[in-house]
Amino acid sequence: MENNKKEIKFPKGFLWGTSTSAYQIEGGITNDWSEWEKSEARSKKLKKNGKNPADYICGNGCSSYNRYKEDLDLAVSLNTNSIRIGIEWARIQPDKDVWDVEAINHYRDILREAKKRNLKTAVTLWHWTNPTWVTDEGGWAKKCAIEYYLGYVDFVIENLGGEIDYWITLNEPLIHVFNGYIRGIFPPAKNNIFKAFKAFNNLAEAHKRAYEKIHNYFPDAMVGITALINDFEPARPWLIPEKILANIFHYFWNHKFLKKIKNDMDYAGLDYYFHDRIVWYPPFRKNLNKKTTDLGWEIYPQGMYRAIKYLSGFNKPIIIMENGLADSADSRRAEFIKEHLSYVHKAIAEGADVRGYFHWSLLDNFEWALGWSPKFGLFAVDRSTFARTKRASADVYAEICKNNKVDI
Ligand code: BGC
Repeated sequence: MENNKKEIKFPKGFLWGTSTSAYQIEGGITNDWSEWEKSEARSKKLKKNGKNPADYICGNGCSSYNRYKEDLDLAVSLNTNSIRIGIEWARIQPDKDVWDVEAINHYRDILREAKKRNLKTAVTLWHWTNPTWVTDEGGWAKKCAIEYYLGYVDFVIENLGGEIDYWITLNEPLIHVFNGYIRGIFPPAKNNIFKAFKAFNNLAEAHKRAYEKIHNYFPDAMVGITALINDFEPARPWLIPEKILANIFHYFWNHKFLKKIKNDMDYAGLDYYFHDRIVWYPPFRKNLNKKTTDLGWEIYPQGMYRAIKYLSGFNKPIIIMENGLADSADSRRAEFIKEHLSYVHKAIAEGADVRGYFHWSLLDNFEWALGWSPKFGLFAVDRSTFARTKRASADVYAEICKNNKVDI
C-alpha cells in the first residue's frame, strides 16, 4: 500500500491561509443584517417554520473583535503564512458623516499584529453587510451606494492601505443580489428583479472605481473580488436542453459579473463550494450526492479543478479565497481538504497560475440565513464561553501548510 502513496508539492511561496468575515465572527456589530435578523417579520417567519429565532441572531459572534490576537495565534498554530479577514463598513462609518477613529485604529492593530506574526493579509472591504443608513437610502439598488462605498474605500486606503497585501473589494456580489433582491432571504429582503439588476450593475461599477482608486495610491496593489464559482455540468451531456441550460446557468451565475470587471482585477478570487448537475426539469439540479456535508451540499472536489480551469481563461493569477464545509463531527474535513487540494494541484501541474488556498473557515461562525448550526471551523467555538477548541482536521491542514505539500 505504501507504494501507492503520492506526495504533491505546491509552488514555492504558495499562500496558505484561513478565511473569515467581519460580521460572522466579530460580534457587537450594528448594521443592516443585525437589524433585519431581529425584525418582527423575520422572527415570525422563523417561528412559523419551527425554528428558534435566537439561533439566527449573530449577537456576540465569536467575540473575535476582542479575541483577535488569540485568533491570529490560532492561524499561526496552523503554520499558515496568510490570513483573510474582513473589515466592517458599519463600524468604520456608523453614520453618513461619522468616521469612527477607534474602529479604524482597531483594524490597523489587527493587521499589524498579523504582520508581526508573518502573516500576509487579504482584506475584504465588503462582505454583504451595509451600514443601516446606506440601506435606508435604498442600498445597492440606488446609485448613491456607489459614492458612499467609495468614500469608505478612500478612508480605508488612507488609514489601512499600507497593511493590506490582497484587496478584496467585494465578496461574492452576486449572492447579495440574488439572496437580497430576488429570493428575499438576506436583507434588504426584496423580491424585485429590476432592483436586482440595478444592484448588480452598481456593485460592478463600485468595484471598478474602487480598483482605480486603490491603484492611484498603490500602483502595485493586488486588487480583486471573490467570485462564487459553481461547477455546472449537464447531467447528460448528449441531451441538448441540459447542455444549453448548464451553459446558461454558468453564464449568468459565474461569468456575467466577471466579464464586466475583467479588466479591473489583478487576480481572480475563487470561492468554491458547489457542483450543480443540471437536468432540464425543475428544480434543474440533480446531484448524485455520493458524499455530502452537514448542510447536504455535495462534496465534489473535481469541480474545484474545473472552476480553476474556467478562471484561467482570464489570464490572471488565481487565489482560492474560500473552500470548506459544514462538518460538526469533523469526519470529512481532512479528506475534503486533501481531495480539493489534489485537484488544485492537478490544475497547477497543467499550467494554471494558482497562488494560494484559504480554507473557510478558521472558526465556527455565524452562517448568515442558516444561523449558528453549521460548523465550518477548523476550530470549534463554544457559544457561551467563546473558548476555541481545535478539531483533528486542523492538524492535517497544519501539516500541509508546514510542508507545502499534501500526502495522499
Ligand atoms: C461566503 C461565506 C459563507 C460561506 C459558507 C461563502 O459563500 O462568503 O460568508 O460563510 O460561503 O456558506
